[in-house]
Amino acid sequence: MRQVPTATFGNNRFKFGLFCANCNGGMTFSRAPERWACEWDDIVEVSKLADDAGIEFVLPVAKWRGFGGDSALWDKSFEVIAHSGAIAAVTKRIGVFSTIHTPLMTPAYAAKAIATIDHISHGRAGLNIVCGWNQDEFDIHGVTIDGEKRYEHGLEWYRIFSKLMEGGAPFDWDGEFYKLKHAFTDPVSIQRPRPAVMSAGFSNKGRDFAARAADILFTNSAELAMGESVVRTARDYAARHGRHIDVYASCLYVCRPTREEAEDFYYHVAEEMADRETTSRFKRKRIAAATDGEIQFSPETEVPPVPRHARAMGKFYSGSIPGVYPVVGSPDDIVEELARMSAIGVSGSSLAFVNYKNELPFFVQEVLPRMVRAGLRTP
Ligand SMILES: Cc1cc2nc3c(=O)[nH]c(=O)nc-3n(C[C@H](O)[C@H](O)[C@H](O)COP(=O)(O)O)c2cc1C
Repeated sequence: MRQVPTATFGNNRFKFGLFCANCNGGMTFSRAPERWACEWDDIVEVSKLADDAGIEFVLPVAKWRGFGGDSALWDKSFEVIAHSGAIAAVTKRIGVFSTIHTPLMTPAYAAKAIATIDHISHGRAGLNIVCGWNQDEFDIHGVTIDGEKRYEHGLEWYRIFSKLMEGGAPFDWDGEFYKLKHAFTDPVSIQRPRPAVMSAGFSNKGRDFAARAADILFTNSAELAMGESVVRTARDYAARHGRHIDVYASCLYVCRPTREEAEDFYYHVAEEMADRETTSRFKRKRIAAATDGEIQFSPETEVPPVPRHARAMGKFYSGSIPGVYPVVGSPDDIVEELARMSAIGVSGSSLAFVNYKNELPFFVQEVLPRMVRAGLRTP
């Protein structure tokens, strides 16, 4: 078997992961008719375009229930393992992540699924570990999230997963959460010692978990200054465990030929067509689920209309998902902002759009070459 080291996604200073194209809605609580409808053939098309453009990875969201309301954000979603197996088969270079809810899939199931995708893709699989936060979604499975212990559970889950991926003789496991007999998996992943692992979290426990288990911490940020402290603490946490971790930011991109066009569109989607009621419900849910009280947005759950910003880069409107940083402007504006992120130590971001098919081609054509000229990416 050809063995390749775990993908590090190459040498670009600022990397991208096409995010959430497996769910409807375009990362905004909005009723805008232009928003992403999430049709399978369109997902394939944008994934292939991202692959050809040298985008580093595709990252689908694990979703079981959306947020309802007029925006119906993420009410429709394709299951991630099936999604990633299929995307792996129709792409050539791009990393293909699967997001797995640790309370919903056993480590042995995940090891087999991720190893399978690693073989389909010839060494491009990745794992995004999420420990769960939204009980409504888990009610579909009849599973209760243990808010206090979810990261401890996740860590044991990860240890079993990585031991399985090492290969070798069957082993027994007698842990707090799992009692296993003769655990093994075959085939193991092509990437050694295991495919790249990322974890999406914000709380201190979430960052500590990522520092122990992941190569990448994907995190939310309400502002760039907050991003800087997140990068610092994540690196400190990792250093305590003798590890290094990269930090990626969760972003929504609105890029148009001129700043004015980008700001008009962003205002239209995220404010004029905002579904305030659902934004407010989302905030209440997130706050209730934040066990150590750490959230990445203001605790105010009323969502009043927001007047038009003089400059919308990094600013939120009523329909914005709290913590998903809006990168809005002309191609030059976007590259300038990404240079600022890179300067504070952010290694990359999720790449999400209101409508991926309409907007990714322009981004690829105009932003990526400018990033090369700015020294943020190589051709
Ligand atoms: C980039 C990114 C991707 C995420 N993907 C998922 C997902 O697919 N499914 C999910 O239930 N939660 C997802 N989350 C939520 C996180 O797993 C986590 O619960 C949330 O960020 C709160 O962090 P905390 O638990 O550390 O407070 C994601 C978060 C981020 C920033």
